[in-house]
Amino acid sequence: MADAKVRRRGNKPTPPHQQDPAAGIDDDDGKNAPVLTIKWSKLAMLAVLALSPYLLLLWFLPIDAGLMNSILTNLVMSVAGFAGVILLIPVASKYVLRRNMFGYDINKRGSAGGKVKVPESLGLVTGIVFLVVTILFQHFIFSPENNISDRYPPENAWLTEYYAALACICFMLFLGFVDDVLDLPWRVKLFLPSIAALPLLMAYAGRTIIVIPKPLRSPLGFTELNLGWVYKLYMGLLAVFCTNSVNILAGVNGLEVGQTVIISCAVLVHNVMQISRSDETRQAHAFSLYLMQPLVATSLGLLAFNWYPSSVFVGDTYTYFAGMALAVVGILGHFSETLLLFFLPQILNFLYSIPQLFKIVPCPRHRLPSFDPHTGLLTGSNDMNLVNLFLRWFGRCSEQQLCIRLLAFQVLACGFCFGLRYLMAGWYK
Ligand code: UD1
Ligand code: MG
Repeated sequence: MADAKVRRRGNKPTPPHQQDPAAGIDDDDGKNAPVLTIKWSKLAMLAVLALSPYLLLLWFLPIDAGLMNSILTNLVMSVAGFAGVILLIPVASKYVLRRNMFGYDINKRGSAGGKVKVPESLGLVTGIVFLVVTILFQHFIFSPENNISDRYPPENAWLTEYYAALACICFMLFLGFVDDVLDLPWRVKLFLPSIAALPLLMAYAGRTIIVIPKPLRSPLGFTELNLGWVYKLYMGLLAVFCTNSVNILAGVNGLEVGQTVIISCAVLVHNVMQISRSDETRQAHAFSLYLMQPLVATSLGLLAFNWYPSSVFVGDTYTYFAGMALAVVGILGHFSETLLLFFLPQILNFLYSIPQLFKIVPCPRHRLPSFDPHTGLLTGSNDMNLVNLFLRWFGRCSEQQLCIRLLAFQVLACGFCFGLRYLMAGWYK
């Protein structure tokens, strides 16, 4: 294999042409196996920065006691999920390495770090723990003997949507793992999320009506429009966009998980503000919250190992899983427009990437910067994505600095989204 991701199945020895030049040697004696390290201080800093606005709002905003009870139960289960991911990643890493699922760190090529076999697809652990937490949580919110559920009828309708959402996320996790194992071509990758979104598209029995923005109401002459099946098409496209856009803003240690954590925290802030504001949409936002808290917690567990210098790679298993989790909460929480505003960096990255994605300009397997082993700095290549654009605009820097710059941009984009919503409130819808 020419690129930096190397997979060998079974016990067959790797032919010399498949050995990675960056590694120099293709050892099976564990010489290049990584030492897994948890970056506790960096993790604590990022978690405090990302979560504090949400936790402060949760503390100070007036929220119904029954609902607060459910949110806190979900929070405690999410913390247990975080611990589960921290404990399971070292175990799973051994197993994926044993099956020769590892990648070489491209942004360390030429240095000792570029020779390490970094275990791949550890998003699998995050996904499985997330599903266990969210499935167990239904006991507290939907079970008939639980008096919390009595307060939020109709519970059965929610249970259907809840399970459809989990089925999509689970299906996406599976297809992401399939992609990691089989290394599917781009045209196939692109459509995987539309298949994974089918459970939700088929089970969805909610509104297909959109409210026309106020400035367009008098020119159009109506205030609502029933989109019917077009609404379902929109839902499918949203899933395709969210999953692929996270997957192509990637390749820098910590970036895939970091952006997911920041977007999810922004969604949490939006949910908790809406819950305290409006009775009408309260249930939809509570639903989103029950999925976002476990997503943030289990992702932070993965980030502890994936932050620079990465001890594990997340794989397409994680990027697709996280993108789908965000898409389903946007759809079922009925705030897909706000969600898309949070995705501003991903939208810009996608638009800038179009010439390469559609092969108008040649597109290499990896569109990553070049690394200078002497200085330890990255230089932007001509490949068209935000990673290289940031290096070209703001100058050469280390991989960690680059990740922080890109994540800071994500935070600014989310802040901009809240500002825009505030300015447009009452005027737009
Ligand atoms: C997408 C991007 C590709 C980018 C890759 C990185 C497009 C069209 N494709 O491809 O440009 O290079 O993601 O994930 O934009 N890796 C690192 N450091 C990291 C993370 C990953 O070096 O922090 C490398 C490793 O060799 C790893 C491989 O990237 O094995 C994973 O690549 P993969 O997720 O399969 O790439 P794509 O999603 O196809
Ligand atoms: Mg990928």
